[in-house]
Amino acid sequence: MGALLLCLVICTQVLIVGTVAGGGAAPRPPAMYVFGSSILDVGNNNYLPGAAVGRANRRYNGIDFPGSIPTGRFSNGYNIADYVAKNMGFACSPPAYLSLASSCGATPLANGINYASGGAGILDSTNAGNTIPLSKQVQYFGATKAKMVAAVGPRKANALISRSIFLFGIGNNDMYVFAGAERAQNRSAADQRRDAAALYASLISNYSATVTELYSMGARKLAIINFAAGFNAILRSRLAGLAAELSGLVYSLADSFGFTRDVLADPRASGYTDVADACCGSGRLGGEAECFPNSTLCANRDQHVFWDRAHLTQRTAFLIAKAFYNGPAKYTTPINFTQLAQSS
Ligand SMILES: *[C@@H]1O[C@H](CO)[C@@H](O)[C@H](O)[C@H]1NC(C)=O
Ligand SMILES: *[C@@H]1O[C@H](CO)[C@@H](O)[C@H](O)[C@H]1NC(C)=O
Ligand SMILES: *[C@@H]1O[C@H](CO)[C@@H](O)[C@H](O)[C@H]1NC(C)=O
Ligand SMILES: *[C@@H]1O[C@H](CO)[C@@H](O)[C@H](O)[C@H]1NC(C)=O
Repeated sequence: MGALLLCLVICTQVLIVGTVAGGGAAPRPPAMYVFGSSILDVGNNNYLPGAAVGRANRRYNGIDFPGSIPTGRFSNGYNIADYVAKNMGFACSPPAYLSLASSCGATPLANGINYASGGAGILDSTNAGNTIPLSKQVQYFGATKAKMVAAVGPRKANALISRSIFLFGIGNNDMYVFAGAERAQNRSAADQRRDAAALYASLISNYSATVTELYSMGARKLAIINFAAGFNAILRSRLAGLAAELSGLVYSLADSFGFTRDVLADPRASGYTDVADACCGSGRLGGEAECFPNSTLCANRDQHVFWDRAHLTQRTAFLIAKAFYNGPAKYTTPINFTQLAQSS
């Protein structure tokens, strides 16, 4: 109990996500567990050793976060994990797993936990050694569940997990690393198509295995954010198949790629004036280096789609989470995040 209280305090101190949230009269899910890459990382990479680990623990990251603190989010402020949590009614965004492990043993009972790690892939080989791959994130959830069972017993733990949200945003780094390797090998167009098909097959097989494993640990509500056009169709059909096989599984597949494509096609409709330049970076379009303290920083951050060369601004994260939570309907299938949160 002491440990639980300590963690609650830490969680609240670190991450008040502002005032409350949509969700209406329906109670919020008991917790949210977050798996993914830098799009959802809220600070796990700060705890990984090694100079080659991608970290956002320096300015100008976090410049629009309360206190202008670089928290480890690859953003000028909050990211998509924070805004999904807020929309679902959480007062506190689920904290970074490794931040809790170092202080009080990662209690999961308050809001859930975020395992996402910058650079992470669906495949263990993606940025190996410099990230927490999806398979390890799932193992960490297993450790979390064991603590929950120890604290409240298996029945309560399973009931809580089955009503909780499992948020995913991963796959972008697998594609990125793959594209780099293809370029380096100077593969022909036909070879690249074959290689891409093989990559998608292994991604979908590993992603399905992950879903099945989490299901066996009690997960029932999946919110899955996707990032690549080619992979979306495959994932869509595989998820439909899994939901048919695994009784009680509900999911919402959210189309981040489609959302960004639409924003880029008509940026002014969403209040953007700059869709090409990274707000923080250097060189051509701010895209030749990461966001460093010596980078050029834009002044109108809310009018930029991209924060740095690989990540979205806080405002874009806000708009994406809002779209996934409650429309337009074209960005989520077969249900939106509101329906997922409220499903029983
Ligand atoms: C992915 O799939 C391959 C082959 O199917 C397997 O060897 C590997 O262990 C799987 N898991 C990860 C996380 O890469
Ligand atoms: C890549 O392959 C093309 C066609 O096979 C060839 O013309 C070109 O010189 C190659 N480039 C490099 C950098 O190897
Ligand atoms: C900016 O800082 C980075 C990281 O310390 C360094 O690698 C880079 O050379 C610096 N750029 C300039 C233009 O000073
Ligand atoms: C999202 O789901 C909620 C709850 O069922 C529903 O009221 C709302 O209309 C949906 N939004 C869209 C855009 O379909």
